[in-house]
Amino acid sequence: MPVKKEMGLAIVGCGTIGRIRAIIARDYPGVKWMGLCDINRELGEKLKEDAGADFFTTDLDELLNRPEVNAVIVATDENNHAAPILGAAERGHALFIEKPIATDARESLSILKAIESSGVDAVMGYTQRFRRRFLAVKERLITGQIGDVHSVVTRAFMNRMVPIATVRRTQNRRHLTPMVVSGTHSLDMSMWLMEGKTPVSIYARSTDRVMSQWGTKDSTFGIFEMDDGTIFSMNISWGLPEVWPGSVYGLEIGIVGTEGVIDIEDTHRDLVLATNVQQGGGYVPDGYNPPARHVDFLTSYPPGDLHMDQLWGPMREETVSWYQRICMEQPTPHATAQDGHRNLVLTMAMDLSARRGKEVSLPVDLEELMEEDV
Ligand SMILES: NC(=O)c1ccc[n+]([C@@H]2O[C@H](COP(=O)([O-])OP(=O)(O)OC[C@H]3O[C@@H](n4cnc5c(N)ncnc54)[C@H](O)[C@@H]3O)[C@@H](O)[C@H]2O)c1
Repeated sequence: MPVKKEMGLAIVGCGTIGRIRAIIARDYPGVKWMGLCDINRELGEKLKEDAGADFFTTDLDELLNRPEVNAVIVATDENNHAAPILGAAERGHALFIEKPIATDARESLSILKAIESSGVDAVMGYTQRFRRRFLAVKERLITGQIGDVHSVVTRAFMNRMVPIATVRRTQNRRHLTPMVVSGTHSLDMSMWLMEGKTPVSIYARSTDRVMSQWGTKDSTFGIFEMDDGTIFSMNISWGLPEVWPGSVYGLEIGIVGTEGVIDIEDTHRDLVLATNVQQGGGYVPDGYNPPARHVDFLTSYPPGDLHMDQLWGPMREETVSWYQRICMEQPTPHATAQDGHRNLVLTMAMDLSARRGKEVSLPVDLEELMEEDV
């Protein structure tokens, strides 16, 4: 079938994630032209060569002004999403934005307003929505298989190599917290599965015994109350030792309804490798030498796994699905920019409640989210 719309794709940010999406684009027939931008010329030129891209520049405007461009992936690091999003929206280009939408709640709102007034189609990279297991759960929930959901408990455990890799990219770490950077994935998943419910309050606490030396926290646990009385317990620790077999992420979600329950075990303990050969990690920062790892929960690297020089798994499904959304006008389960803003505000509200040691009513004033430690 011919594509309905050919894509001229701009990818801003040629690091780990921009690279994955560019390599997948190379093989997607609807992508007729691909241009790249990164402030790191060497990295960008290398990706241009590997992905067979048509163009590379270190100048964002030069890329976004190219006549071929009609869709943009924003894969810069967490603190640098605003300029490419705003530049794409004002030129009317469709958007795929890596999470979190921003690390400043006020900036996130102005980004959302710009997207809404431009009318562009903008989605967010909440990759785990594209896994078969979660799509199966979503379908059972929307067809009422467990009745009315009233209690949800979510627990995310992460290897500390992830936050160490994340915070090394910047000195601006104040909002690079477990919830804002990583818990946003499991919060998005939980909110998506509870679609239609709106949080009215949050009470959370955090600890920072280990990760404070890297300028972030270890864990944040909280309880949201929803507008219909549902309770949602959202918990993350990203301070697990490097030798923890989960190289990146393990998740458990329990969803209790009036007629049934869905119990999701997504810790990857069902696929264990133990070996004398030293294993790497999911995100090992340059110049950082973690202790030897000899046990690995396979499939715990969220984007997917490599075989035949190709990535297989959720990030491939998600990326191809977005190309289909643009080129074939197919409906997809991507998170919207509105979801991205909501997720940022809720994760920051957990941090605010933990800082204050008090319950926070929702919706919360965005200025309060940005206030200095209280
Ligand atoms: N969906 C997922 O599962 C998933 C997984 C990991 C990371 N992420 C998100 O993807 C984004 C990128 O993460 P990453 O791991 O690829 O980071 P990375 O550091 O590997 O890559 C980021 C790239 O952006 C470039 N960059 C920074 N500022 C720029 C600017 N102003 N203009 C152009 N280029 C710029 C950097 O030079 C770097 O090459 C982050 O928001 C991260 O949270 C999503």
